[in-house]
Amino acid sequence: MTLADPATEPLSVRLRTGTRPDHDAAQGSGFLDRLAAGDLPRAAYADLATQHYFIYETLEQAAAAMAADPVAGRFVFPELTRLPALTADLAHLAVEVKEPLPATEEYCERMREVAFDEPWGFVAHHYTRYLGDLSGGQYLGPAIARAYGLDGAGHQFFVFDGIEPPAFRTGYRELLDGAAFSPEDEERFLAEVVEAYRLNIAVLAELKERWS
Ligand code: HEM
Repeated sequence: MTLADPATEPLSVRLRTGTRPDHDAAQGSGFLDRLAAGDLPRAAYADLATQHYFIYETLEQAAAAMAADPVAGRFVFPELTRLPALTADLAHLAVEVKEPLPATEEYCERMREVAFDEPWGFVAHHYTRYLGDLSGGQYLGPAIARAYGLDGAGHQFFVFDGIEPPAFRTGYRELLDGAAFSPEDEERFLAEVVEAYRLNIAVLAELKERWS
C-alpha cells in the first residue's frame, strides 16, 4: 500500500474530501441562502421545518432501533435528538404538519431501507444531518432567526443544549475513524453519504420550486 492509497487515510478525511462536491452542491442549492437572507415568506421556513419533522422522525426512530448495535450505537447521543425541538418550533410557527413533499418521502423511504439495520446506512444518514446541523446549521440558525424575527422560540431546531459544536465535531470524527466497518461497509458508507446529500438536495429543490 502506498500513501496515495485512499484506504490508508482515516475515514473522516476520505469522507470530507470525497463528498466535498456533494456538500457544495447542497450548500449551493439556493433555498437555504434565500431563507437566511429573509427573501422568502415565513411560511417557507415553516415548510422547511415541516420537512425536517418527517426526516428527523424517521432518523430518530432509526437511532432508537440501532442504540444497542455495537458499531452504530456509539453514534447515538440523546442530546442530538431534534424531534422535540421541531415539534416546539412548529407549534410556535402555528403550522399543522400535513404531508411530506415527495422528495422528503423518498428520503425517509431510503432511511427505512438502510438506516434501521445496517450500521453503515445509519451512520451515513446520521452524519449527513447532524454534522451539517452542527456546522453550517450554526450559521443558518441565527440568520434565519434574525430574518424572521424569531426571538428564542421557533428556531430551537438549530440549538443543541449540552453540545459544544466544534468539540462535538472533533469527537465525532474520532468516532468515525474508530468505527469497526469492514472495507466493503466503509465503501457502502461513503456511497450512502453521497446518496444522503442527493436526497437533501432533492428536498431543497422541491422547496425552492414551491416558494419561488
Ligand atoms: C447554506 C447552506 C450551507 C452552508 C452555509 C454550509 C456550511 C458548512 C460549513 C461552514 C461547514 C464546516 C466545514 C468545516 O468544518 O470546515 C459544513 C460542514 C458540513 N455540512 Fe454544510 N452547509 C450548508 C448546507 C448543508 C446541507 C444542506 C447539508 C446536508 C444536509 C450539509 C451537511 C454538512 C456536513 C455533513 C458537514 C460536515 C463535513 C465534515 O466535516 O465532515 N451542509 N457546512
